[in-house]
Amino acid sequence: MGSDQALVHIFLVSFPGQGHVNPLLSLGKLLASGGLLITFCTTESFGREMRKATNIVDGVLTPVGDGFIRFEFFDDGLDDLKRLDLDQYLPQLEHFGKELIVRMLRKYAGENRPVSFLINNPYIPWVSDLAESLGLPSAMLWVQSCACFSACYHYFHGLVPFPSETQMEINVQLPSMPLLSHDEIPSFLHPSTPCPFLRRAILGQFKNLSKPFCVLMDSFQELENDNIEYMSRFCPIKPVGPLFKLTKQTNSMVTGDFLKADDCAAWLDSKPPSSVIYISFGSVVRLNQQQVNEIAHGLLALLSGDELEVSFLWVMRAPASEGFGSDKIDLPDGFWEKAGDKGKVVQWCPQEQVLAHPSTACFVSHCGWNSTMEAVASGVPVVAFPQWGDQVTDAKYLVDVFKVGIRLCRGKAENRVISREEVENCLRDVTVGPKAVEMKANALKWKKAAEEAVAEGGTSNRNFKAFLEEVRTGSALKASPTV
Ligand code: UDX
Repeated sequence: MGSDQALVHIFLVSFPGQGHVNPLLSLGKLLASGGLLITFCTTESFGREMRKATNIVDGVLTPVGDGFIRFEFFDDGLDDLKRLDLDQYLPQLEHFGKELIVRMLRKYAGENRPVSFLINNPYIPWVSDLAESLGLPSAMLWVQSCACFSACYHYFHGLVPFPSETQMEINVQLPSMPLLSHDEIPSFLHPSTPCPFLRRAILGQFKNLSKPFCVLMDSFQELENDNIEYMSRFCPIKPVGPLFKLTKQTNSMVTGDFLKADDCAAWLDSKPPSSVIYISFGSVVRLNQQQVNEIAHGLLALLSGDELEVSFLWVMRAPASEGFGSDKIDLPDGFWEKAGDKGKVVQWCPQEQVLAHPSTACFVSHCGWNSTMEAVASGVPVVAFPQWGDQVTDAKYLVDVFKVGIRLCRGKAENRVISREEVENCLRDVTVGPKAVEMKANALKWKKAAEEAVAEGGTSNRNFKAFLEEVRTGSALKASPTV
């Protein structure tokens, strides 16, 4: 490991969300391990939570392999907004981010550690503008599937018909993809979305697609071969996933969790192999009380049956202090009397470890892309409970393309409470019977493929090494920096 001043300095900017931070941080650790100096930057409001949940100290260089990583946070003005209104927040994030990041870059240049490359993830396309205006090369890490990338690309360029105000329910046929029904396209692209600002933010990246010198993708060639090959005709895509698995090679303990994780290992160790139903809806989705009641009753019905020896581990995040997600959600009265010691509820868990544990039988998931990749690459079948965004497309792929999942709902647009009977039936189908055997076999096939992709000589491993080399040697540098 050389002096940090001699190392090529890469600046990573993440949208403030767990599902965005995790893959970009994995990439950061990999680059550091390859002998680079990495500054990982996101907002102060997210950083505050990260500091509470982990041992991160701002600005401190942590050795990773042959290089270093450190965290820096910038004020996004969130404290001045009365409540989290994303429509207002996204332009504000851009306004604050652009100014404060330029200041940070100037500071590093003054300290003789100039930044030579920027990497961002989606929802903050202005980072590509910033890089261009400063004469710095950049790359973008796409943190969703290539299928969703293709959907956004085709939508942005108007290449195929999508649902519109006058034709809300048409199916969408994208090249190299199964036919998607109107509720299987990323929901932000549907005219009925309550979040048009997220559509604007994600499409902003497609407007800027010529600016990053390549698009890194947290997927792997074997998983999305046809889509990756097709989209590579239009854009320099490098699949480097599953990043959570590739990054294990760094042996780094640095994490970017925004909640402190409960250690579930001893509890899982006490359970028989393939007997635990893991339930988690990621870092953003919140189910209402009625839906939680139905899931709880469906679980109880399954636990009370004689034919199955199962338990459950359920992640239920505490309510937010105000605004969206601040309603307190409880398990129904009498739940624990019936569940006994067959269940555990935590606020947050080390999900990758839970999915890798031999006691875990299946994953009831909202199908965020990180959860999808983690399940697929860990060989764990999924009960798909998508809500919105890319989750509905991921659910389609898990069930109909990867064939490792069973569908419990179609998404929030369905606008109904999924009943306890449906929950019980799905859980039964994913744990016993011929469907369960088939899904497990497929899941194990994908696990092996993921392991091969990240192993020495594997597709993602080679793509990552080529990228590292381009960044390290400066062959990706197109212009001379002005900071
Ligand atoms: C968001 C969007 O909702 C999702 O659709 C998009 O694909 C990415 O951004 P999120 O909802 O948080 O992400 O879901 P997901 O992508 O699954 O990411 C959650 C991450 O948190 C995963 O890496 C998961 O391992 C981690 N996690 C979750 C934990 O570490 N512990 C938990 O208890 C729950």
